[in-house]
Amino acid sequence: MIPPHDYLVDELSELIAIPSVSADPSHADDVRAAAEWVLGRIRSAGGSAVIEERGGRPLVVGEVPASTGADAPTVLAYAHLDVQPPDPLDLWESDPWTLVERDGKLVARGVADDKGHLYMLLKATSLLAEAGELPVRVRFAIDAEEEVGGQSVVEWVEADSGAADVALVLDGGYATEELPAFCTALRGICYFHLTLRTGERDLHSGMTGGAALPATHALLEVLSAVLPGLDGRLREELRAGIVAPSDEEIEGWKLLPDGTTELSDLGARPSDRQAAGEFHLRTTAEPSVTVNGFESGSPHLQKTVLPVEAQANVSIRLAPGQQTAEIAPVFEQLLRGAAPDGATLDVELWSSGEPGYVDPQSPAIRLGLDAFEHVLGDRPLLVRSGGSIPVVAALAARGVPTIVTGFTRPGSQLHSPNENIPATALDQGLETTVELLRRLGTLGD
Ligand code: BES
Ligand code: MN
Ligand code: MN
Repeated sequence: MIPPHDYLVDELSELIAIPSVSADPSHADDVRAAAEWVLGRIRSAGGSAVIEERGGRPLVVGEVPASTGADAPTVLAYAHLDVQPPDPLDLWESDPWTLVERDGKLVARGVADDKGHLYMLLKATSLLAEAGELPVRVRFAIDAEEEVGGQSVVEWVEADSGAADVALVLDGGYATEELPAFCTALRGICYFHLTLRTGERDLHSGMTGGAALPATHALLEVLSAVLPGLDGRLREELRAGIVAPSDEEIEGWKLLPDGTTELSDLGARPSDRQAAGEFHLRTTAEPSVTVNGFESGSPHLQKTVLPVEAQANVSIRLAPGQQTAEIAPVFEQLLRGAAPDGATLDVELWSSGEPGYVDPQSPAIRLGLDAFEHVLGDRPLLVRSGGSIPVVAALAARGVPTIVTGFTRPGSQLHSPNENIPATALDQGLETTVELLRRLGTLGD
């Protein structure tokens, strides 16, 4: 049933070649083109699909009927067609928009996150439908703004009253290079953009330094108010609501590489003395703050300027148990409270997403685990993930059992240059997705 590898690579290349960067308004047409491509694939699989406009970006909604009739269970399939910006371009060893196979890996922007998975969902559905063997109705909700925390798909799920016996969110990955995983929880996020001003125009730092307030200093003070203490923990107000991991989850971390290995494999340095020892706790069960970017003054040319404007992006990942509506205002107050007199601080909440939970005991998840084990030879680990996929919380709120998984590896360099998956992951991922759809056909039997 699975076509040859080169055929799959060629088809996926078409989608990869569309630079659908949701964060960059100059790529809005490309995001739309990628949505059209997905629309065409759903239709050519014998389904129907439309592009819904919500808040300016497309959301592809469609369905392919089951070969077995109207009583078949319904799978709600989720993936996203948008990708992160590719920069810095000079670190790419090949063009980010050209899918290439190198050293046993498929490399391109989006091959791991999330176009490879999106393609697997579409292809698995069409292969089964063409063979007259699709045992489930597959509804698609394909997001074009996941990477910017867009709310379209969340609102769509909340408003939807159609059937959904199980959701399949193919946007995660393996726990180790070898072992597949299903997510039991994901972190939420509140992403802020800050603009701080301390005057009308930049000044001579000799004539004013020591007396005039630089925006750089003021913004550093503001950001310091939300950074973790020396023990690596955030302030208690920012930890409110967290649900401690169960003994079972803590036990499960022993199957994963230890924090020192995880960090060094990624080329990362520990953020403090306890960080490596607490790696899995810190990245999946605690909130964390990251200053994602900072810009002010003259960081390149030697210029003795006293800058009066500084900007930063800063985000807080929420641990399972926390809520954006509770944490976002507290975070904002901490920032505002730290702004020195004379600084005007503008705080914009650019996006937010709730933490997501999955009930690992549901029959749908059990069927999913069986399918993965059957094809891959290993039963997926049930682990929390530190990343965020906002739709998962909306699915949980509707009571839809949700499989959150995928075929990326720790070394897949998500959001980084030379994003990749093992070349075999494309064929294996497709085969596993086909098996998964087959087994989900038995839901409710
Ligand atoms: N696929 C990732 C999230 C992810 C990463 C899940 C690793 C499981 C394992 C997703 O595309 C992502 O990057 N999400 C953003 C969401 C944010 C912008 C709202 C994230 O986590 O930064
Ligand atoms: Mn993703
Ligand atoms: Mn991503």
